[in-house]
Amino acid sequence: MVGIFGCVLKDGKAAPVIYEALKRLEHRGYDSVGTATIHEGVVHFGKDQGRIDDVYARYALDALPGRIGLGHLRWATHGAPIQSNAHPHLDCNGKVAVAQNGIIENYAEIRKELEDAGHVFKSKTDTEVVPHLLEAKLKKGLRFEDALRETLKRLEGSFSLAVMSVEDPGRLFFAQKENTLTIGVDDDAMYCSSDIPTFLPMTNRIVPVESGEAAILEAEQFEIRKFADWSVVSRKPKEVDWVPEIAEKEGYPHFMLKEIHAQPYTLRSTIRLQEEYLDLMTTFLDRAKELFLVACGTSYHACLAASYMFSKMASLSTHPVYASEFIEQIGKSVNIDSTILALSQSGETADTLAAVDYARVHAATILGLTNVVGSTLTRVSRAYIVQQAGPEIGVAATKTFTAQLSVLAQLALKLAEKRGKLSHVEMEHFKEKLKQIPQIAERVIKTEESIVHSIAKKYKDKPYFIFLGRGISSAVAYEGRLKLMETNYIPSMASPAAEMEPGVINLMKPGSPVFFICPRDETRRNIIEDIKKAKAEGASIISVIEEGDEEIKALSDDYIQVVKDMPEYLCPIELVIPLQLFAYYTAVERGLDPDKPRHLTKAVTVK
Ligand code: F6R
Repeated sequence: MVGIFGCVLKDGKAAPVIYEALKRLEHRGYDSVGTATIHEGVVHFGKDQGRIDDVYARYALDALPGRIGLGHLRWATHGAPIQSNAHPHLDCNGKVAVAQNGIIENYAEIRKELEDAGHVFKSKTDTEVVPHLLEAKLKKGLRFEDALRETLKRLEGSFSLAVMSVEDPGRLFFAQKENTLTIGVDDDAMYCSSDIPTFLPMTNRIVPVESGEAAILEAEQFEIRKFADWSVVSRKPKEVDWVPEIAEKEGYPHFMLKEIHAQPYTLRSTIRLQEEYLDLMTTFLDRAKELFLVACGTSYHACLAASYMFSKMASLSTHPVYASEFIEQIGKSVNIDSTILALSQSGETADTLAAVDYARVHAATILGLTNVVGSTLTRVSRAYIVQQAGPEIGVAATKTFTAQLSVLAQLALKLAEKRGKLSHVEMEHFKEKLKQIPQIAERVIKTEESIVHSIAKKYKDKPYFIFLGRGISSAVAYEGRLKLMETNYIPSMASPAAEMEPGVINLMKPGSPVFFICPRDETRRNIIEDIKKAKAEGASIISVIEEGDEEIKALSDDYIQVVKDMPEYLCPIELVIPLQLFAYYTAVERGLDPDKPRHLTKAVTVK
């Protein structure tokens, strides 16, 4: 993951153009770099772990010959950030080069089949199956374009691919499924990339490549075809007037909003975790004599939600603990029987690593959930899962939070299956609902964004906010409050709704905004009573409800609706999105920059 870019020039050398393109993505973070070109029937390439400038210098990549080429920045998802795992990947004969963004879900089965047929793999990546599959098809005598067509039929997952071969040396091929790709059309060159900013200084004429489509580039023309029947799609270039800064945000004014909108896409990646990782992790969870869920900030709220998921789905009791309190609170009791599941988006938060370090020294088993392969957390964990959300630039965690929730939900489901806690029918129902979560996130954003924006306008000048929920939704309430406080600096409170007395209720005055998070779960009757109490104090009730919950609607001054009938263990994902949007729009309406909250950095690496 991170970015792919390719170009076919009429004249000149592709490698320096690729260098400039990759540099435009550099600030996002990546672990490895690679570039390949074709010249006189040979694939030339260089790749390694490290910075773009260093890798280009180390392998003299600027000097690669050829007017056609591709480049890749990697953010590891399968396989450690080492040279052999960097892209591009080649077939056994070095005739096909491939770079990929995303996940090829069924790579393990394809790899086994190819290895049995004698193909030799050099990496641990999912991507490497693609050049070998192409090689196998070429061996059968197919033309390169037909080999690609056949190969695409085999691939499952969410990916974008850049492919080239000496068998078809004048053309560059791309394809995407549930991912992003855009062609850039210039007078004497064609570009294609996962990210428009890579080619924006050269051209502003763009053609989007949709899911299930392949793009074939030559220097002066392009063609788009559908995987399904290889029919040609006619699509004309359109001009965008984005300055580079806006292009980087894909037209969104802020990274925070871009990342909120990216959630359907990141959730699509996250729900495709390989069975073997879930299996290994749940084996440890199943055997744990005592399990502590340890994290800071937003990641801690994911722990809180997870404690409900594990207990309700799999009858596993856990202890969510703030990493900063772990040593004081639990330290003395940690021993060989303790298991720590540490959550950290960055994998580098100092308090989380200190807690983990302490627990390791006391012989505990360390498990990790992070967004960054190669981070310290992955190095110190006995087993870990990478949440597949891609880099997050906005300081306020949004897409990485819902990705964490989705991984935890999958772990709870897997554990429930292992422990025989759910019937076959229930399992199938939950799995089906999990598959729907990306579309559900999409729908909530689509239908509720403008409503949330007007609610933000209405309440933006209020001096304080209160967030209440019951059960697993109390974790959502805490996260809604954190998002608002960190981006808006408005004093806010959150608590389980039943705890509003004594204390919180005394702060409710006529017009005080109080968010109630109200899915239709077992807590609903009680939360209705809580709402009535807040209403009696004159508070303005803003509820997050399931579609069609007329009873709560009638009690609310404003309401935001999420999709109904989601199982409790998945509900936090859709319930938190309106609260992320609320924090975002409140900041915008107050003239604050939500991407640059005061006193905050993305990862707190010092204690
Ligand atoms: C909130 C936020 C922080 C982090 C916290 C932990 O939006 O970004 O509260 O959640 O610093 O960071 P990680 O998950 O990287 O350990």
